[in-house]
Amino acid sequence: MSGSAESVLKRCERLGRVSEEPDRLVRRYATPAMREANELVGGWMRDAGLAVREDAAGNLIGRRDGPGKTLVLGSHLDTVIDAGRYDGPLGVLAAIAVIERFWDRALPFAVEIIGFADEEGVRYPTSFLGSSAVAGRFASGWLSLEDEHGVSMAEALRAFGGDPGSIASAARRPQDLLAYCELHIEQGPELERRGAPVGVVTTITGQTHAEVCFRGEAGHAGTVPMNARRDALAAAAEWMLAAEAVARRRQGTVATVGRIWVEPGARNVIPGKARMTLDVRHTSNAVRREAIADLRAEAQRIAAAREIELVWEARGETAAVPTSPDLADRLADAIEATGHPPERLASGAGHDAVLMAEVAEIAMLFVRCERGVSHNPAESVSAADVAVALDVLERFVGALA
Ligand code: GLV
Ligand code: MN
Ligand code: MN
Repeated sequence: MSGSAESVLKRCERLGRVSEEPDRLVRRYATPAMREANELVGGWMRDAGLAVREDAAGNLIGRRDGPGKTLVLGSHLDTVIDAGRYDGPLGVLAAIAVIERFWDRALPFAVEIIGFADEEGVRYPTSFLGSSAVAGRFASGWLSLEDEHGVSMAEALRAFGGDPGSIASAARRPQDLLAYCELHIEQGPELERRGAPVGVVTTITGQTHAEVCFRGEAGHAGTVPMNARRDALAAAAEWMLAAEAVARRRQGTVATVGRIWVEPGARNVIPGKARMTLDVRHTSNAVRREAIADLRAEAQRIAAAREIELVWEARGETAAVPTSPDLADRLADAIEATGHPPERLASGAGHDAVLMAEVAEIAMLFVRCERGVSHNPAESVSAADVAVALDVLERFVGALA
């Protein structure tokens, strides 16, 4: 059972029950549920013979010593709200299974498996917190960001057992790292369409995040005539449709408003304020930036026409990141050796590999998931596909030796 697809799926199921809420999976950065997840996964790492520690940012790290540089495997252990059980955890638990398979084989390098503490960026308005720390890109200003209950990141991390004052110590040096390889569910329909169990990632999409706020004027829903209103939510609605149209005009662009806050928020009050998150992605940085410029211009046009104030706050961006061509070829060779076509595809999702590319050559192996569904409790992978992915990762690691 050790090192098998069945054991990985069983662990995904077990870890999927570690949640902040009883009826759905939510595991955000530095919460008691993340503490429980780190304890559980840390135990599995120890059983696989790894020396386990946590860094100052709360990343869980299991190390197998060896000569020379360190091969890093892993993914994230945090989740979105009402998540599936595979986005992130599959990559960590598959890495443990592969290292279990090497229990009686020497490797000419050390291996570390990292369970990143935050990739999704759900609790704080930042993403990739865990891998940013490992890549030496953690901005100390982030520590004063607050969650929706006013708990600062520094406070949350301290309560979690991390050390906000020493985040810099989590950074790794490029000269110490052999490579970073992340196994992840595809989260899209491409492998299913091509009839392939796994695929090699060529590029990870770039992203821009922003918070966009329309400020109009609250007023009485019964007495203010329609032509005298400065309705912030109506402006937001118009802009959301414009955003959809802007993205549709540019092939491959995706734009999402995932959250909206309306104030004061009552049936009989005209909305005075509507604040939204914005997430825009494309594998070309130039196209993504053009789309952002158009979205801003649309927001300005709508605000001006409605005599409403617009506040646009940038919330970070990551450039599109190519994976290492050499490592991609090695993964493709490993796929062919297992008797499957070496499919290649781009990733529309962000991954810890984006930040790890700052300190190591990166590779990513995608596993087909049912209907491409993710960020949804219906996420599903088959044991047969996971078995192929484990064989591929095992060959890849063995061939690096
Ligand atoms: C993470 O899943 C992201 O792509 O937002
Ligand atoms: Mn995700
Ligand atoms: Mn993920």
